[in-house]
Amino acid sequence: MNTPKLISWHLIGAVLIALLAPICQAQRAPVDAAHTLGIESCRDCHEAIVESWERSKHATSFNTLANSEAAHQIAKFIGMKADSIATNASCVRCHYMQEKLASAVQTTAAVSCESCHGGAEQWIDIHNSKSLTRSERISKVSALGMNHPAWVFATAKACFECHVIDDEQLVNKAGHPALSDGFELLSWYAGEVKHNFLVTKEGKPVKSNGHDPQPIPTARKRMIFLTGKLLHLAHSLCAVGCSEDAPVDKAGKLVRLPNGKPTYAVQHAQTVQRLIKEMRELQPKLGIPEYAQALALVESNPLTTGHGKDLASAAMEIKRLAEQFSKSNDGSKFTALDQLLESLKPHESNSKENVAKR
Ligand code: HEC
Ligand code: HEC
Ligand code: HEC
Ligand code: HEC
Repeated sequence: MNTPKLISWHLIGAVLIALLAPICQAQRAPVDAAHTLGIESCRDCHEAIVESWERSKHATSFNTLANSEAAHQIAKFIGMKADSIATNASCVRCHYMQEKLASAVQTTAAVSCESCHGGAEQWIDIHNSKSLTRSERISKVSALGMNHPAWVFATAKACFECHVIDDEQLVNKAGHPALSDGFELLSWYAGEVKHNFLVTKEGKPVKSNGHDPQPIPTARKRMIFLTGKLLHLAHSLCAVGCSEDAPVDKAGKLVRLPNGKPTYAVQHAQTVQRLIKEMRELQPKLGIPEYAQALALVESNPLTTGHGKDLASAAMEIKRLAEQFSKSNDGSKFTALDQLLESLKPHESNSKENVAKR
């Protein structure tokens, strides 16, 4: 693993040790089973999307995760029975989707449509309504809990709620990963997760479902990439601010978890530093006001003693900046990014390769 260049390992440990009484944003909650409809309710109209989802790890995990040795180990450490992994809210909120069937709550999928787009019960009949204009549809369904892709922020925020783990003890005590190594929004969306199948047909009140996957428009790619950095920074900073365990031992030596990695706080502090470095390098070419404000916020709240509360509130403000950025830009002017974006490789999981081989 690379030693961060901005601050040494030691310094991170020393400054984090005294974080006090952090105030954290709420942890990701499970999608309310009273308002979910399940995959089958999308299939009729979005068949190509459902089929592409079925090949992704988000879907195939349903048959693998709860039976894995790794999951059983984690459950054991937190005193949970292995057979409740797929039903206990502490895992369900990130790994599964539940529905109310015959008045009993049942786990019906792993990470599914409604994990990202929101429980559909209240918006399904409105989101495609031909009697409303597109902007009326979008504002109505957003108010009813739909994460509509009209703005990158609305759909992207869900990715970070799950991929930046928000539970320190799950990591430090039970050995759960702290984060998804190398998570970057555009490349992680552009691989097996990508499901852009809608096409706009002239004169039609609503888009139609095409059978061929559509490319992500270049301006949209820029927005996904740039919004992703702000959201990632917000979530990782929040994770640091919410940490309580000492990252160094009494001798000042960095604590190592059984998997060889440093503690939750240090792993997230390293991510914060990497993101700041990347954003600083991009900023002169792009001149994004929200980037300037976010960088200033991080700089005015060093990762130091007693700043847990400030880091958590800086994180909330950066999340607000991400939303503002995503709503007030269409990506058209950030052409300076294109070379960099072309070099990003779409992220595929191993399960995708396995499925493809079958
Ligand atoms: C009866 C057909 C129908 C069903 C059922 C349906 N959709 Fe849609 N959906 C559409 C149509 C048509 C559009 C295009 C709306 C537009 O152009 O604004 C759409 C748009 C969307 C969009 C927004 C895409 C965009 O940018 O315009 C999302 C997200 C979405 N659907 C998700 C779902 C999910 C999730 C389900 C299942 C819970 C579902 N839909 C069920 C027909 C349907
Ligand atoms: C905050 C969201 C979140 C919660 C809560 C959560 N997980 Fe995870 N989990 C993830 C993500 C995201 C990954 C994928 C990490 C990666 O990309 O390597 C993951 C990966 C895993 C893995 C694979 C680890 C490996 O070494 O390959 C196991 C096993 C697992 N989780 C079990 C659990 C169990 C059991 C629970 C409940 C006690 C749980 N998780 C709770 C988000 C979560
Ligand atoms: C509800 C929580 C949740 C949300 C929301 C979510 N993910 Fe995931 N994602 C997971 C979990 C958990 C895994 C790992 C599953 C496993 O290993 O069994 C995963 C796996 C993946 C993988 C496969 C990675 C690999 O190498 O195996 C990709 C790619 C991915 N997610 C991208 C995204 C993107 C992009 C978004 C947002 C558009 C997103 N995820 C939203 C929980 C989530
Ligand atoms: C991992 C999170 C995630 C999951 C799971 C997910 N979506 Fe999406 N969805 C997104 C994101 C993010 C976008 C916006 C993509 C973009 O910016 O180009 C999107 C876009 C869409 C669109 C618009 C596509 C277009 O061509 O413009 C539709 C329709 C849609 N999703 C429906 C579904 C359905 C149906 C499912 C379940 C089979 C599903 N989604 C599962 C995150 C997700």
